[in-house]
Amino acid sequence: MVNIVVLVSGGGTNLQALIDAEKSGQITGGKITAVISSKPGVFALERASKAGIPGHVLERKKYSDSNEYCNALLKLLDELNADLIVLAGFMTVLTADVTRKYENRIINVHPALIPSFCGDGYYGLRVHQAALDYGVKLSGATVHFVNEKTDGGPIILQQSVPVLSGDTPEILQRRVMEQAEWILLPRAVSLFCEGKLIVNGRTVEIID
Ligand code: GAR
Repeated sequence: MVNIVVLVSGGGTNLQALIDAEKSGQITGGKITAVISSKPGVFALERASKAGIPGHVLERKKYSDSNEYCNALLKLLDELNADLIVLAGFMTVLTADVTRKYENRIINVHPALIPSFCGDGYYGLRVHQAALDYGVKLSGATVHFVNEKTDGGPIILQQSVPVLSGDTPEILQRRVMEQAEWILLPRAVSLFCEGKLIVNGRTVEIID
């Protein structure tokens, strides 16, 4: 069994999609054993507790820089025996110490079609605002492995979603979540847990 640790910072709808997928038998080769939040009091922690998953708060604000934060994170991940780390709306950039130690074992969901609207500063609603400002007709979500470059690791799955007239960042965010993120993330985690993702340089081959 792959030991899955999910990292969150907010509402946790992607965490919920993973919990639901595990419950309904879509993730057979792994188990979510812990949730780590970079912020206290977020709804994602409530979702974890409701599902009987231990929640840990490792507050970003309590650390002076991302190096110190990531050192504490590495220690906790080690204690939790994490095999796979899933960033489900985790708003802190990981240092190379973390991405190297868990190379091809950290999966992130990004709410746009990478390489559009990604990289430093593109997170949450800002991503959808940028897509609307640019005037694209398609956006979507990307699930990828995490390396030292923000949103720059090998792509696992992508799904496009239409941008419609009258969209606000909130409306587009919801559509991207419903039609892409909540489907792709559990699917990628399931494929990982079954050993069906083969990384070859920048390319991820899916054996299905
Ligand atoms: C999701 O849309 C996720 O893709 C995005 O934040 C939201 C978190 O929602 N992540 C990023 O922007 C990371 N760069 P959730 O807490 O309800 O899952």
